[in-house]
Amino acid sequence: MTLSQPHGGTLINKFNPKYDYSGITKSIELDSIALSDLELIGNGAYSPLEGFLNKEDYESVVENMKLSSGHVWSIPITLPVSKKQAKEFAIGDVVKLTQNNEVYGVITITDIYEPNKTIEALHVYQTTDLAHPGVKKLFERGEVYVAGPITVVKKIKRDNFEEFYLDPVETRKVFEQKGWNTVVGFQTRNPVHRAHEYIQKTALETVDGLFLNPLVGETKADDIPADVRMESYQVLLNNYYPKDRVFLAVFPAAMRYAGPREAVFHAMVRKNYGCTHFIVGRDHAGVGNYYGTYDAQLIFRNFTAEELGITLLFFEHSFYCNKCENMASDKTCPHSKEDRVILSGTKVREMLRNGEFPPSTFSRKEVVEVLMKGLQRSSVHS
Ligand code: ADX
Repeated sequence: MTLSQPHGGTLINKFNPKYDYSGITKSIELDSIALSDLELIGNGAYSPLEGFLNKEDYESVVENMKLSSGHVWSIPITLPVSKKQAKEFAIGDVVKLTQNNEVYGVITITDIYEPNKTIEALHVYQTTDLAHPGVKKLFERGEVYVAGPITVVKKIKRDNFEEFYLDPVETRKVFEQKGWNTVVGFQTRNPVHRAHEYIQKTALETVDGLFLNPLVGETKADDIPADVRMESYQVLLNNYYPKDRVFLAVFPAAMRYAGPREAVFHAMVRKNYGCTHFIVGRDHAGVGNYYGTYDAQLIFRNFTAEELGITLLFFEHSFYCNKCENMASDKTCPHSKEDRVILSGTKVREMLRNGEFPPSTFSRKEVVEVLMKGLQRSSVHS
């Protein structure tokens, strides 16, 4: 068996449902980003992290994309609180981590510090523009970061798609049972369109299995809701993918829209889930025009293959070409722009909302039907 070693060598497990927190009085109410981060530290998806970053690790991650131990880590995983609340805490305190009166974990505080968010924004997002959804979130959250190791005491209950929430230890077992030696991870926050399918299947020509791992944590309001996407993935897999070569499970993290930095983070996390390979296409985790089309590929040049421990598969911008009568990219297609079917996400969402079918060369008919129904349902509710 040759699945990837976890990042840092050991899969972290910080889940202890028997932990007695009954005597703890202080608590921090988590926003949805912090709750998903707590879950992902606890189940080892963020290995080698064992808690929210202390000042030394935070500064090292912001400036050098590495933890102070030297391990590659590109996104600061922090626990922000307000200045007022920070005054309640002292080093050594054990504090409950809650949401809506449920206790999900505890943190032993080892550090309390005030970050320089302008520097964080410039390094992580390459901009301080509040129109950037990740930067906006960064500045909206508390001014003080509380740090220290955590324990997860309760798993989050999901109303839908619970069977698709697997911990890294479970996905690794699945890959082993399937006899896969090589597994390519695919991150997405979108429905799987023809271009996604093309790069996934191109990768699948050379590896044993595809781990379709859509991000389902907090995304910006105009992204397609996760429950609608989940339905669309299942329809697509049932109709167009070999069942024994694909596995679908969700990545419950929040989307940061940090482009290149987030691509590195996404790759390290998929390594923890057991992937040996990871796909990075055009403008991975990007938003608007903040990042160059291939910046999320170039950033990996900062690290050695040993430091990364996962093989990156880079893909050019792909599309259907009417002249080739095939999916293609600049690398394989000699024809002009006019022959290529390229639609922006915004345009596609607009078409779906108006009940207009994007061409089947852009997205499979079965997928479009699910998305249309889903979007009509969610616009009725909103
Ligand atoms: S992301 O924010 O999760 O990266 P998206 O779901 O659109 O957004 O992309 C998933 C993966 O597919 C990323 O690696 C991205 O670079 C890649 N990708 C998306 N569209 C294309 C395309 N047309 N050609 C090549 N790669 C693409």
